[in-house]
Amino acid sequence: MNILTLQNITKTFGGLIAVNNVSFDIKKNCIVGLIGPNGAGKTTIFNLITGNYKGDSGSKIKFKDKSIINMPTHKIISLGIARTFQTIRLFQNMSVIENVLSGRHLQMKSGVFASMLHTRKQKQEEKYNLNKALKSLKFVGLEKNANDLAKNLPYGKQRLLEIARALASEPSLIILDEPAAGMNNQETSELVNIIENMKKRNITTLLIEHDMSLVMRICEKIVVVEYGSKIAEGTPLEIQNDPKVIKAYLGEE
Ligand SMILES: Nc1ncnc2c1ncn2[C@@H]1O[C@H](COP(=O)(O)OP(=O)(O)O)[C@@H](O)[C@H]1O
Ligand SMILES: [Mg+2]
Repeated sequence: MNILTLQNITKTFGGLIAVNNVSFDIKKNCIVGLIGPNGAGKTTIFNLITGNYKGDSGSKIKFKDKSIINMPTHKIISLGIARTFQTIRLFQNMSVIENVLSGRHLQMKSGVFASMLHTRKQKQEEKYNLNKALKSLKFVGLEKNANDLAKNLPYGKQRLLEIARALASEPSLIILDEPAAGMNNQETSELVNIIENMKKRNITTLLIEHDMSLVMRICEKIVVVEYGSKIAEGTPLEIQNDPKVIKAYLGEE
């Protein structure tokens, strides 16, 4: 079963076609890689999935059989899609646990009124959310850092914190934009473990990544884009041997 289907998605900025009629789908519980040279349109595809950009007419995106194209981002998150960003977007002066809690605010049930009155229901909910947030932190191995300021974490751990925050919204699909960028080898292998553990918990992953050994190791399917268009799609083995892909990458150097 497909969890996400992109059909003929196109995005232009003025005269520039950033994404050109791209279609592919993602099966539930798979790890899929989206690769391509810089400027190929990968992040723009993510921004279309999460509603940060509106698609040009004719673009269709379905998540669990529901059309999500041009839906507001908060609604898309509440349906079960979470993301991380290419450049880290944490609340640098807040603690690690507070950053994760910020990923849960959509799950909170009691409204502003209850929080002003500090009702028992609201206190219970805070406790519940704190527990969930701690679980997300533990999942990425940052539970010992819960009370540190985000800005005091080394870069690789900040990236893991972004994943914990995304997981805190309890997504069924997580999309990661260059999660291994700036990570050392040990952090990268921790990241691989985390992504594989997400799969065990029935979370589907779509990732953009330049670290080819990571992509080839964990992805079951890879989609390749160049100049906004999809040029190939297949298993790691198929992609490694695809002449168009080889040319796109050799041409970049
Ligand atoms: N908000 C925007 N306004 C104008 N151009 C954009 C915008 N976002 C992306 N682009 C352009 O779209 C193209 C694809 O960018 P992007 O999706 O970031 O590529 P990638 O993530 O594959 O490196 C680039 O030429 C980029 O400059
Ligand atoms: Mg990008």
